[in-house]
Amino acid sequence: MAKFLVTGGAGFIGGNFLHIMVNRYPNDQYVCIDALTYAGNMETLEPIMNKPNFKFVHEDITNREAVYKLFEEEHFDYVINFAAESHVDRSIENPEVFLKTNILGTQVLMDACRKYGIKRYHQVSTDEVYGDLPLDRPDLFFHEDTPIHTSSPYSASKASADLLVLAYHRTFHLPVTISRCSNNYGPYHFPEKLIPLMIQKALRNEKLPVYGNGLNVRDWLYVGDHCNAIDLIVRKGRDGEVYNIGGHNEKTNLEVVKTILKALGKPESLIEYVKDRPGHDLRYAMDPTKIETELGWKPEHNFDTGIVATIKWNLENQEWLKHVESGEYQNWMKRHY
Ligand code: NAD
Ligand code: DAU
Repeated sequence: MAKFLVTGGAGFIGGNFLHIMVNRYPNDQYVCIDALTYAGNMETLEPIMNKPNFKFVHEDITNREAVYKLFEEEHFDYVINFAAESHVDRSIENPEVFLKTNILGTQVLMDACRKYGIKRYHQVSTDEVYGDLPLDRPDLFFHEDTPIHTSSPYSASKASADLLVLAYHRTFHLPVTISRCSNNYGPYHFPEKLIPLMIQKALRNEKLPVYGNGLNVRDWLYVGDHCNAIDLIVRKGRDGEVYNIGGHNEKTNLEVVKTILKALGKPESLIEYVKDRPGHDLRYAMDPTKIETELGWKPEHNFDTGIVATIKWNLENQEWLKHVESGEYQNWMKRHY
């Protein structure tokens, strides 16, 4: 039996991770802490709330005193840090909270790991720490040793956290791993992000706001495949190592939007080109060879199957979407679009 602390579990990827792992490992204990920011939703945790091996604690990872108290009480074996401010556009509007949660929050968690002891601290990071690739070089990919080169306050904060994690490993011998994943999509995705936003807008026959010319490329991975990769790294990955995660599903934003419109039987005339994101990264593309060969990871979904499952989930979960679209979400949509 092992005890896991999972931070940010009321959000998109952390929530999916907990749904899978709490059921897959009934003998392990999972404690989730989440500050329940605009992106955190208790309804996301509903399917596992009553499981005997799951516990939720409403807390902020930057609250050192509270985090230490929790570590003292719970004696965690593993810490998996999903908690973050995650939306690039919001980081352009207001970087400060990104630096606080994504960097200082990581520091607090690792300090607690040092103080109370831990088998493994895992940092959930992103392909965005590598910056972007040119559109006319499809032969180029991000590798684990690609230099850090960030574009937005969000990616800079995630890169800073990664460097801090590696520094804690080298200086304090903290047992750590880092995963850097490409764009996720799937159930419980907050509808400020491209895919769920476009599904919701298409369903309402509203205009679909595509930034710039829509030719920026993202490498899409179904969220469950990301969660399985993290599970493998935490249990079998080597200390101090970085693992890239991606499924070779590169699509332009326009391709993604047109696929959604077609699946929902909506006209392409709903597409509206709007002003570009400042500093907009052109192309992300991961080379996942290391995790495939070292740990035997393979994604179960490609984009064709994943997008069908995602659209179906969104159609069947309009109640969840209605709830997360109330409140602060409305203010963001008014300010941003
Ligand atoms: P999300 O925004 O959906 O969820 C973030 C969660 O963290 C929310 O539940 C929020 O309440 C919580 N949180 C925020 N600040 C907190 C704080 N100070 N203390 C405790 N909890 C706090 O994000 P996501 O898309 O699920 O991303 C999860 C992680 O994966 C992030 O670290 C992100 O950088 C990384 N990542 C995301 C993607 C992607 O495509 N979404 C891809 C690669 C990596
Ligand atoms: O690559 C991993 C990253 O993917 C994660 O680290 C981030 O947390 C996650 O938010 C995501 O970042 P992106 O910026 O790539 O995702 P987003 O859904 O915001 O945008 C995807 C693409 O779609 C991007 O090129 C911008 C474009 N876009 C986005 C929105 C919200 C639009 O054209 N219109 C929009 O309204």
